[in-house]
Amino acid sequence: MTTLVAVGAQWGDEGKGKLVDWLAPRAQLVVRFHGGNNAGHTLVVDGEQTVLHVVPAGILDPGTVNLIGPGVVVDPDILLGELDALTERGVLRDPSRVRVSGRAHVILEWHRCLDKAREERAKGRAIGTTGRGIGPAYEDKVTRRGIRVADLLDAKALREAIARLAEQKNFELTEYYRSEPVDEEALFRRAVEWGKRLEPYVDHTERILDRALREGRNVLFEGAQGTFLDIDHGTYPYVTSSNCVAGAACAGAGIGPTRIDRVLGITKAYTTRVGGGPFPTEETGERGEELRRLGSEFGATTGRPRRCGWLDVVMLREAATVNGFTALAINKLDVLSGLDEIRIATAYRVDGVDGKLTDEFPMTLAEIERAEPVYESHEGWTGDLSACRRFEELPATAQAYVQRVEALVGVPVELISVGPGRDETIARNEPFRAA
Ligand code: IMP
Repeated sequence: MTTLVAVGAQWGDEGKGKLVDWLAPRAQLVVRFHGGNNAGHTLVVDGEQTVLHVVPAGILDPGTVNLIGPGVVVDPDILLGELDALTERGVLRDPSRVRVSGRAHVILEWHRCLDKAREERAKGRAIGTTGRGIGPAYEDKVTRRGIRVADLLDAKALREAIARLAEQKNFELTEYYRSEPVDEEALFRRAVEWGKRLEPYVDHTERILDRALREGRNVLFEGAQGTFLDIDHGTYPYVTSSNCVAGAACAGAGIGPTRIDRVLGITKAYTTRVGGGPFPTEETGERGEELRRLGSEFGATTGRPRRCGWLDVVMLREAATVNGFTALAINKLDVLSGLDEIRIATAYRVDGVDGKLTDEFPMTLAEIERAEPVYESHEGWTGDLSACRRFEELPATAQAYVQRVEALVGVPVELISVGPGRDETIARNEPFRAA
C-alpha cells in the first residue's frame, strides 16, 4: 500500500489534473482535501476534454472511488452540475464512486457576493480571486458559523443556521458594501433541494479512507492551487484561503502524518500565475506573450490570461522544503520546444539584503516584490516531444534541462509530461511503489 500526496509547487495550474488522472488507475481512492471550485482541472482522454472543479480527477478511471474530504468547501450547484454531466456521459454510473464528507463546508450565495464586493472595493490592491466565494466560505468556517454538507440534510437545523447567517451577511452586504441582500427564504428552499439531491453522495469519508488504508489500498491525495497560494506559506495576502501544502492532506482528509508515504511536487517547465501578487520571473513582454500562446495559458475556471515567466528553482526549493517532496513531476516540457534559449532562475538579488544574492525564497512580501532573478541560460531544443515515452527519447538538451532542474532542486524528477493527453507522459519511476 502506498499513500501519495500530489501538490502544486508553484501558483497553481501546474497540470495537476492531468497527472492525477494518469496516476488514478494505480490508486483505489482519490481524495480532495482543501479548496473548492476555484480549482479547474482539464483532462484530455482519447481526445475528449473534461473540465472538473470539485469532483476529484480520479473520476474518469472506473475503478476509483473519489472522496471530497472535510477540508474542502463545496458549492452545491457546481458539484451537482458536475455529477449530472458525468452521469449523462455514462462516466458516473454509481453514486458510491463519489463520496462527499458531511463535514465539508458549503459555499453559499452570500460568499460569492462578498468575494466580488470585496474585490471591487479593493481596486488596486485586489487579490484577483476567482470570485467563487472561497475566502468568505472559509471565514465562516473558522468563525464557527458555517453551514456544512450534513446540515443540508436536516431542514430544521438548516433553517436556524441560515437565519443566523442571514442577519450578519445581509447586514454586511447592504450596510457596508451597499449591494443587494440575498433572499433568505429562497436560499433555504434551494438548500433543502441540494440536501435531497446530495444525500446519496454524503458519507463519513474518514471511515472510508481508514478502511482503504487497512485493506492495503493505494490512496492518492489530490492537491489544488499550489504551494505559493497557500495561506501560510504563499505570497500572502495574494493567496487562497486554505492550506495547499502536502501537510494539509492530513487535516483536510483525516489521516495521520505517519500514514503519508510519498509527496509528489508538480511544476510546469516554466512558471505561470493568475491574479495579483509578486512574480519574480514574470516576462511581461514578447517572451511572456510567446509562452502564453505556446502553452495556451488561459485559466480553466475564469478564462483569464495567465501571467507567464521562466522556471524559478528558488521557489521550487522552498516548495520542496515545506512539502517534503520525495519526487517532482515536470509538466508541459513540450511547450518549450522551439525556443533558442531557456532560462532558469537560480537565485535572487534583493537590494534590502545589501544587494547580495540569496538562493532562499524571501520571507516578506516587500522582499519578494523587489527580488530580481538571477538566471542561468540553457540551450533549447526543437521538434515535437509528444511521441516520447522514455527519457532517453527526449532531445539531449531537453534531457539536460530536466537533469539540471533535478540537481538544483535536489529532488528526483520522476514524471515528465510531453502533451495534454493521458498517454503523453514519461515515467522514470513508478510513483506508487509496491509495499
Ligand atoms: P481564491 O482562491 O478564489 O480566493 O483566489 C485567490 C488567489 O488564488 C487568486 O490569485 C486566484 O487567481 C488564485 N487561485 C485560486 N485557485 C486557483 C487555481 O486553481 N489555479 C490558479 N490560481 C488559483
